[in-house]
Amino acid sequence: MSRLVRLCHLGALVDGQPVRIDIDGHRIAAVRIEDDVYAIGDRCSHANFSLSEGYLDIEQCSLECPKHGSNFSLVTGEPGSFPATRPVPVYAVTVDGDDVIVELPEDDQ
Ligand code: FES
Repeated sequence: MSRLVRLCHLGALVDGQPVRIDIDGHRIAAVRIEDDVYAIGDRCSHANFSLSEGYLDIEQCSLECPKHGSNFSLVTGEPGSFPATRPVPVYAVTVDGDDVIVELPEDDQ
């Protein structure tokens, strides 16, 4: 089961600038690339560092962890490089007018 939750106002996301948003017990790194919005788990799967503070690679559509440099896909959540070996969560995103909506798992709070 999952539920749809308003993450933020679309205008709150600046193109190319990842931002951390905490919502309903989920720590999310939200990224806007032109008209597309992505939402992945903000906590690096290697250690407790914030991916939204890392480097955004627009060509690869990934976020690089600021601590040790693992590169996480914004599409799959999979790390493309060590030391991280486990994916971070990926949240389905829809944009409804000016609202950014994410799908949160019902049982994961
Ligand atoms: S804390 Fe992110 S790669 Fe080590």
